[in-house]
Amino acid sequence: MMKQRTHMCGELRREHAGQEVTLYGWVHRRRDHGGVIFVDLRDYTGITQVVFSPEETPEAHESAGQLRNEFVICVQGSVRPRPEDTVNPDLPTGEVEVVGSTLTILSKAQTTPFRVEDDTDAGEDLRLKYRYLDLRRPTMQRNLRLRHRVCLAVRQYFDSVGFTEVETPVLIKSTPEGARDYLVPSRMYPGKLYALPQSPQLLKQLLMVAGTDRYFQIARCYRDEDLRADRQPEFTQIDVEMSFADEDSVIDVSEGMIAAIYRELGREIELPFKRLSYKEAMDRFGIDKPDIRFGMELVDVTDIASESQFRVFREVVEDGGIVKGICAPGYASASRKEMDELTEFAGIYGAKGLAWFKVTEKGISSPIKKFFSEGELEQLGTRLSASVGDTLLFVADVPRVVADALANLRLKLGGKLGLIPQNEDAFVWVLDFPLFEQENGTLSPQHHPFTSPRDDDLELLETDAAKVRAMAYDLVLNGNEIGGGSVRIHDPSLQQRIFKVLGIGEQEARDRFGFLLEAFGYGAPPHAGIAFGLDRIVMLLAGEDTIRDVIAFPKTQKGACLLTGAPSAVDPKQLRELGIKVDLG
Ligand code: AMO
Ligand code: AMP
Repeated sequence: MMKQRTHMCGELRREHAGQEVTLYGWVHRRRDHGGVIFVDLRDYTGITQVVFSPEETPEAHESAGQLRNEFVICVQGSVRPRPEDTVNPDLPTGEVEVVGSTLTILSKAQTTPFRVEDDTDAGEDLRLKYRYLDLRRPTMQRNLRLRHRVCLAVRQYFDSVGFTEVETPVLIKSTPEGARDYLVPSRMYPGKLYALPQSPQLLKQLLMVAGTDRYFQIARCYRDEDLRADRQPEFTQIDVEMSFADEDSVIDVSEGMIAAIYRELGREIELPFKRLSYKEAMDRFGIDKPDIRFGMELVDVTDIASESQFRVFREVVEDGGIVKGICAPGYASASRKEMDELTEFAGIYGAKGLAWFKVTEKGISSPIKKFFSEGELEQLGTRLSASVGDTLLFVADVPRVVADALANLRLKLGGKLGLIPQNEDAFVWVLDFPLFEQENGTLSPQHHPFTSPRDDDLELLETDAAKVRAMAYDLVLNGNEIGGGSVRIHDPSLQQRIFKVLGIGEQEARDRFGFLLEAFGYGAPPHAGIAFGLDRIVMLLAGEDTIRDVIAFPKTQKGACLLTGAPSAVDPKQLRELGIKVDLG
């Protein structure tokens, strides 16, 4: 029979002194101090120091001699205050220790491939291969519990405002989010495949037609796309859809949800969040997910540039391009080498060069100063509000490259110059996204084909589709896109118009989304929704840099599970049953 655990390892305090306790946990560290053995006993709540003394408890002391790191043990003993000079102020349990009277070794452990402690130098591949050891680290346990509490707060909040959580299937027909699908072959229907949902998009819209009124779900989504620090092939959304709702209703409910999460964590957040139009975000920050915690905004100087004698600027403007710049405060001290590195960095984003001007006590210093009149230099400085000690950086190119290069330079320099306040959470809604994306002359939905155009832009649909704005919105936190959604089209004739603009024929529409279009023929309420990236929200709350650190068993950047070895080959018999022949030629 197992002895009842009386306390967790992080629980004991001075007031427990004198109590008999039973603790379970892992040996975090064992120290032999000339006879007396100290064991740091760890569970997810913390660490307690246990002492085994040869005089007081010879038997337990003898067993303690066999202990190695990560052995699983049960200790019974009594709590006593530590002598004043051995109190450990860094440990919540540091005022006490347990004098071990009985020690039971429940499980032995081999030497672990890395030490179980926060400050590990183990590479991520090793951590992922031995994820169960990695997860023993206090930060990882804290992250898992933080995620749990966020989910609890989300469920409680949506329940309190009339939402119902509905599970939607994972084996479905392909959805329209625009990434590649993960496919699952069907044994019953040879040659046919299910898709894993990129999101529950169509199903939640069907739930609106079904009269569910307000739906949410903490839902797993699957997308076969290039992975990054904030992207996993399977990730979790807080998925939301509301009937008889417009953009403002979704924004209100979403802000309520974020506030509820913060409240759960004992933090207050100021509502309502700021709002920016997509156009303003692009103009001022060069990006649709601006980090608004700091300035260094992009400033247009096309007019000044077009008048100058600098050939590069003039030619770009003559070809229809633009010139914009940012002012890096206090950066005039940068070396020539640093400027070359920045130029190279801007090149990653397509910039063909980087024009820079340092504002020094002795005036402007720049390799291209001679192409500008005193008046023009003055104008540039004034336009960018430059002071002595600053450096001005300009890129001339097509608007997309200028935006991309400067947005990334802004983030890089903002970080380097310490301009980004680390303890601030800056939420911002980005609204009025373009309805379509245009690449090489073909249009595709920016979001998905069920996103409603703005009423004021309807007449542009057939004449200037690229200019049509959508009733679509993203929520951005400190430069991270943490959610996105839209008002949906519920009018079949408008939907037909959109399909037509997208070049989706009637037959194709019927094949791909026929079930949804049919449903809309039976009384569809106006509806709108949003989905939040749960992993990203928890990552930001936890102060982590990658969502892998808030997912128990994540995949690598290449989509592999190093722990289990997925993806892996399967038994040829399984393939035969599915009618699949593998041809890697
Ligand atoms: P969207 O595709 O914008 O919208 O996704 C919503 C949010 O999900 C998160 N996210 C991801 N997180 C981790 N890994 C990924 N690969 C990944 N992809 C997306 C982001 C994003 O903001 N059905 C629509 C929502 C709607 O219209 O209601 C949708 O899925 O934080
Ligand atoms: P070049 O005439 O190409 O030697 O460039 C002279 C200076 O202008 C260098 O400092 C370049 O980095 C900069 N430059 C060149 N092209 C651009 C551009 N498209 N935008 C901004 N600066 C540029």
